[in-house]
Amino acid sequence: MFVLVNLKTYPCDPVAVAEAVRDVNESTDARVAVAPQAAHLERVAETGAETWAQHVDPIDYGSNTGHTLAETVAEAGAVGTLINHSEQRLKLADVDGAVEAAERADLETVVCANNPAQIGAAAALGPDAVAVEPPELIGTGTPVSQADPDIVEDAVEAAQAVDADVSVLCGAGISTGDDVVAAGDLGSEGVLLASGVAKADDPTAALEDLVAPL
Ligand code: G3P
Repeated sequence: MFVLVNLKTYPCDPVAVAEAVRDVNESTDARVAVAPQAAHLERVAETGAETWAQHVDPIDYGSNTGHTLAETVAEAGAVGTLINHSEQRLKLADVDGAVEAAERADLETVVCANNPAQIGAAAALGPDAVAVEPPELIGTGTPVSQADPDIVEDAVEAAQAVDADVSVLCGAGISTGDDVVAAGDLGSEGVLLASGVAKADDPTAALEDLVAPL
């Protein structure tokens, strides 16, 4: 299972969480990675934790003030990027452009979507993975795998109908190892999560709990 910890703009210490991600990753068969804010990518990557960007823009080098260039993210040490997260939605053409930009920079791609219909559209753009996250469950602590198992199974079906090789992840409300196992039982190859680690008093303990059954 792939466990991607998105730090969003939570006021946690990104380096401390990254060190915990690195250490927990070494003690499990699961693949554990962290997605800090763009300004923290370099410091986080220096810890040795697998580092992802939260977003890249559908742009190339040039006059793009305020945008995030895929090549810069890669130079900072990221190996992959989220695209079209629920909190950073893009138009379909821009999702396509962001996937192209990420591929140009050799970044692995996870395109997020709200529901199985959008997952099918996302899978058609050729990312490495798609992730279904019902926005109403994000940050609630109620795991998608428990609150809406059908959405995960339907997302897997929708993605595989388009591209049998695309990985399907799920997210929203995941905070325990049992949640991760339940996601896997529904056909998900990984999870995206944020508050369960970024807002935890002890992020290391939270991460250890997440991977304990894997
Ligand atoms: O990217 C993961 C995220 O949107 C889920 O957030 O806080 O429900 O784990 P959370």
